[in-house]
Amino acid sequence: MTRPMNRRTFIVLGGTAAATAATTLNQPAWATVAPTVAQPTLPADPFTLGVSSGDPLSDSVVLWTRLAPNPIDGGGMPDRRYEVRWQVATDDRFRRIIRSGNAKAEPEFGHSVHADVRGLRPGHTYYYRFRVDHHVSPIGRTRTAPSRDAQPSSLRWAFASCQNFQDGFYTAYDHLAAEDLAFVAFLGDYIYESNPNPNAVRTHDGTGEPFSLVDYRNRHARYRSDASLQAAHAAHPWIVTLDDHEIDNNWADDIPQDPQNQTPEAFRARRIAAFQAYYEHMPLRRSSLPDGPDMQLYRRMDFGDLVRVSVLDTRQYRSDQVATEAEAWDPSRSMTGDEQERWLLQSLRKSDARWNVLANQLMWAQNDRRAGPERVFDFDNWDGYRAQRKRLLTAMGAVRNPIIMTGDRHATWACDLKPDFDDEASPVVGAEITGSSVSSGGNPNVEAFHQTFDPIKAESPHWKFIDNQRGYVLFDADRSRIELSLRVVETVVQPTAPITTYGRLVVEDRVPVITLVDEAARPAAPAYDADRRFIPGPNGPLRLDRGQPYHG
Ligand SMILES: [Fe+2]
Repeated sequence: MTRPMNRRTFIVLGGTAAATAATTLNQPAWATVAPTVAQPTLPADPFTLGVSSGDPLSDSVVLWTRLAPNPIDGGGMPDRRYEVRWQVATDDRFRRIIRSGNAKAEPEFGHSVHADVRGLRPGHTYYYRFRVDHHVSPIGRTRTAPSRDAQPSSLRWAFASCQNFQDGFYTAYDHLAAEDLAFVAFLGDYIYESNPNPNAVRTHDGTGEPFSLVDYRNRHARYRSDASLQAAHAAHPWIVTLDDHEIDNNWADDIPQDPQNQTPEAFRARRIAAFQAYYEHMPLRRSSLPDGPDMQLYRRMDFGDLVRVSVLDTRQYRSDQVATEAEAWDPSRSMTGDEQERWLLQSLRKSDARWNVLANQLMWAQNDRRAGPERVFDFDNWDGYRAQRKRLLTAMGAVRNPIIMTGDRHATWACDLKPDFDDEASPVVGAEITGSSVSSGGNPNVEAFHQTFDPIKAESPHWKFIDNQRGYVLFDADRSRIELSLRVVETVVQPTAPITTYGRLVVEDRVPVITLVDEAARPAAPAYDADRRFIPGPNGPLRLDRGQPYHG
């Protein structure tokens, strides 16, 4: 893939060209910061997976890279610890380096590097890079959050989810990289654990699903090798959380989707391996370092008094899925576990933020899948945890502007949130925007989607807008309103494509309803490629019915 080499694409480009350029341009600055211990020279570029930053605070960000000269086959590093130098500068030529240090890259953690840089100024843009012997990484750009007592007039961010490598290219990320953002929230399904499918747009490596640490490392490394994904990481700090496919489809706490095929011991080992590989590939703080099968992922970040982001974890602590609506009303059932529920309620009630945003995995708004009097639900999402959902949405009635960002669905669903979705008199307490996928599901058949879901929408007054084109959601928040732009690409079965804003929605301060203000014309013809409509199944490829987005 070629890109015009203007200044911006140089900054965010994740690859050897940028690394070479950085070495040439900035060698004098590195001469003063040679590694402090002797270590064997690496024969090949170890920065094949790019760089990233994450979890911005007002004085700190986490910087990430992983040394992996042979990323798809175990990493290819010698079995010893390396010391990696990092630098943070206020300019992309590294003339004004304001922080630097050494970080360990240890074989026990796949030679991943997590540098928690402190002492930064609030609301500032910084540039960072890594070096190990004569190899210099691509340059990343990041931004700290405004200070807690600041009163920002505006904030712009985006969220994305569901990037199945086999279903398509990350065309949306080329455009996401070029946006001007405070952060990117990623809401889950960063990798998919599915089998390699030789008929797919791009094929997973290996011979089956990942189970071991090496398997998961290689799967993450394959995804991270994508230049568009690297560019999006290098351009903005990311706030990540996971859903099911980072481990296994529809897992719930210690229960896999198919307990008849995975013993509790085997699934526990799988979860430990998947969590470690996830940590190794994400810009997470050490507070998220897994402890065996446990990993602390729910957390919050503040952006002045304008935006509070509460990141949820709806997999590790949840009750197992149920089969009926009656069972879903069991008040003992929980999507979050008791401790996370208490934390979330405190996060919301004690907030003085104007916009209280949740980075969440699965749809909160009730979503019947069948037109007519019969009701069909996917009980993996909040429809399967109804008593807790009602309890939390009731509490949100006393919170200023709750806005839930949701992944999983591979389609856009803008909804009003109500404690009781079946009661017309139940008040709207917040808004939910479920975003489409980056690539999962491949190119959508927009007409078939609307034929299936428009009749259900007519029976679901809290559904305000639906669509299934691929892309990401952009937020422009100021002190009186949030404008959401649905950014969609024409195709994901080619590596590049233009992007357009398909629809715009608005939420006003203290008026929690979400309202469509602008909608472009639908694509004239289905953009999907008839040859690519298959996913691997137990007895060979399964045909995907694009009108029914397959679960998550
Ligand atoms: Fe997904």
